[in-house]
Amino acid sequence: MSFTIAIDGPAGAGKGTLARRLADHYHLHLLDTGLTYRAVAHALLSCGLPLDDEAHAIEAAHSLDLGKMDRAVLSAHAVGEAASQVAVMPALRRVLVDKQRDFARRPPGAVLDGRDIGTVVCPDAEVKLYLTASAEVRAGRRLAEIEARGGTAEFSRILDDIRKRDERDMSRADSPLRPAADAVLLDTSEMDIEAAFLAACAIVDAARAGRDGF
Ligand code: DC
Repeated sequence: MSFTIAIDGPAGAGKGTLARRLADHYHLHLLDTGLTYRAVAHALLSCGLPLDDEAHAIEAAHSLDLGKMDRAVLSAHAVGEAASQVAVMPALRRVLVDKQRDFARRPPGAVLDGRDIGTVVCPDAEVKLYLTASAEVRAGRRLAEIEARGGTAEFSRILDDIRKRDERDMSRADSPLRPAADAVLLDTSEMDIEAAFLAACAIVDAARAGRDGF
């Protein structure tokens, strides 16, 4: 028997940080599903292949080892943009979704974050959270991250990128980003990570109160 926490939401809403905190706290496995799309995009970019090369994308997805994804390489901004483009291919999504579902079934359970976890990958997840924040707040956080690493960037460009990514992820035909009907919405625009974590814990504790073996 396993317990699944699904976290969806747009880029920069704080899903990754919240997912890590919850996985640590409840001793669950953790999968950032965005990395799987990024890994496929990175494989295509490295071979100089176009981002709509479905056959090669599927091949890269089949040979992907979820335990060997290099976050440092895959977190580059350009890889994220490319991931959002490869993610529109339904046949590729089927291969990655199968791998993500296998991962979610490992006991004692897992926290998965992405765009379609509550709607497509794990529709029966015991807990579904939809994390959001205004585009301006997300752009501000991204800028602060860049500056904390000693870099510089223009707020208006980051905001523009975030809006474009939202538009692509929400309007694609297959598995668009949207909250599942039974997801709990957490708007983190005026909430720090600690407050979001505490709110999420209250939701998880309520869900597991009715479950044995967790
Ligand atoms: O969360 P991220 O920025 O690492 O995701 C990169 C892209 O991958 C995102 O813009 C859309 C795609 N993605 C997806 O389509 N489905 C998911 N479950 C996770 C990510």
